[in-house]
Amino acid sequence: MNFELTEEHLSVQQAARDFAQTELLPGVIERDNKQEFPAEQIKKLGELGFLGMMVDPKYGGSGMDTVSYILAMEELSKIDASASVVVSVNNSLVCWGLENFGNEEQKQKYLVPMASGKCHGAFLLSEPEAGSDATSQSTTAIDMGDHYLLNGTKNWITNGNTATYYLVIAQTDVEKKHKGINAFIVEKNTLGVTVGKKEDKMGIRGSDTHSIMFQDVKVPKENRIGEDGFGFKFAMKTLTGGRIGIAAQALGIASGAYELALAYSKQRKAFGKEIMHHQAIQFKLADMATQIEAARLLVMKAAWLKDNDLDYNMAGSMAKVFASEVAMWVTTEAVQVHGGYGFVKEYHVERLMRDAKITQIYEGTSEVQRIVISREILK
Ligand code: CAA
Repeated sequence: MNFELTEEHLSVQQAARDFAQTELLPGVIERDNKQEFPAEQIKKLGELGFLGMMVDPKYGGSGMDTVSYILAMEELSKIDASASVVVSVNNSLVCWGLENFGNEEQKQKYLVPMASGKCHGAFLLSEPEAGSDATSQSTTAIDMGDHYLLNGTKNWITNGNTATYYLVIAQTDVEKKHKGINAFIVEKNTLGVTVGKKEDKMGIRGSDTHSIMFQDVKVPKENRIGEDGFGFKFAMKTLTGGRIGIAAQALGIASGAYELALAYSKQRKAFGKEIMHHQAIQFKLADMATQIEAARLLVMKAAWLKDNDLDYNMAGSMAKVFASEVAMWVTTEAVQVHGGYGFVKEYHVERLMRDAKITQIYEGTSEVQRIVISREILK
């Protein structure tokens, strides 16, 4: 067993850490206040290869492993989870899904620009009545011969307005239930696609979350991904990897809050000494560090399994449920260590606490992760 990172891993980690400090930190509070998408920062992340990290260089990607991606996600998320969610969705859901299940034409046309960071994508599964219950799709794609006719509404879509391409999950045959679901590549500027209202969110407020409406949208036949009826499996397989990325985001939010609490405890004085000298604070720091390390080991194990072509379904869900609960707990403790300062927006910990919450909800709630884990245990 080897817990050491390679030179390559360390250099990706350092590059992401530097980027987060120099490019994400300035303005992160203002972007959160104004709900402003980090457009310039995402463009730069794309130019540096962070939007297609695991994609083969022949399709415009950086050709790295999942462990590298996880390290980058942790560093970016320490500072700005609104930016890191764009990195996560584009890498794990959009690019990974297209590279593994798209055909050569689809890869050349859609994967290359998204993996090389010229633009980014969105993953459209959730609906007003189909969040955790992903088989209950009411968006329909009717086979019209040379094209599909797409109708319906998708909700809570990350990158909904800023994405150039959408991967859309829709029902093509209601009778067949989940076997009658397909996945399609839809260009956002197609006639009949409408971007709905922007969600006013508790956390990750700089990210771009919208509902998307489809009214008689013509989707070319060649834009279906995989065999007829493959859409639900496509969504599940893609989300399985995506959950490792969100687990790393949660880990980053937790580590970011812990680092702030540690630094604060060294300079804030109370009862005649820096608060780090009080055992009440020392025990909090010890518990935070321990929880974070346990989360990191679960996330790394899931990434390692994926890199070694081993089954990572249960490991990914364990990593996500645990890391997201750690993120919520650690950020809450970090606010407590900061006292009144922790409750105001000038200090970053209150934002990290709000951002942590979404990691227990998107790409499968904590309840969904427990369904996945218990099914694996019992099968
Ligand atoms: N890999 C491959 N196949 C899988 C799979 C996986 N991980 N999980 C299920 N399947 C297959 C099953 O084998 C089964 O196939 P067969 O019929 O051939 O046997 C089929 O899919 C149906 O499986 P289930 O009966 O287990 O499906 P279910 O309806 O019971 O659902 C669930 C299980 C785990 C709850 C699933 O619905 C789920 O994951 N829900 C949560 C959805 C989700 O994560 N949404 C996130 C939206 S995207 C997002 O958040 C992105 C963003 O903006 C950041």
